[in-house]
Amino acid sequence: MKYRLRVNRADREVDVPRGTTLLEVLRDDLGLTGTRYGCGRGQCGACYVLADSGRGPRAVASCLLAVDQAAAVEITTIEGLTRDGKPTAVQDAFVAEDAMQCGYCTSGMVISATALLRALRLAEARARVVHRPYRGMHGFRRAVAGDVPARCVPLSRTPASLLAGGLG
Ligand code: FES
Repeated sequence: MKYRLRVNRADREVDVPRGTTLLEVLRDDLGLTGTRYGCGRGQCGACYVLADSGRGPRAVASCLLAVDQAAAVEITTIEGLTRDGKPTAVQDAFVAEDAMQCGYCTSGMVISATALLRALRLAEARARVVHRPYRGMHGFRRAVAGDVPARCVPLSRTPASLLAGGLG
């Protein structure tokens, strides 16, 4: 069955069986192998991509998203984060802080961190509008520990990376 997808700011068409996951399409049909297979159950975060249905990008598990669902949103993978070949501030911060171990799940972490920082910036902007200061570093670190997926990465370095790259 043919599906039209919007991936990394480009229109793509794939011919795959109904029920194929977005992760399979990205890796096997579109050659975007930066998105990784880990648990296949939506738990590890290695396969996270950004999905935007028009209300802002959210990090979603591509191993759980069927291709027909993916056709209804705009997808950004780790390959699509860069603009003009330049890494984002979050990617730069991960490198600067050496916030990775084997690197297998790093793309999912960068995607998740990017979505989290966008949401936090939005929350911060809203808080300013109603004259309430943003909850600050403590809340941010707690949010990161809960939202950034990782099994093996030195998490203590990850919040520092995010702060350096995302909110600095
Ligand atoms: S592969 Fe683990 S969440 Fe998708």
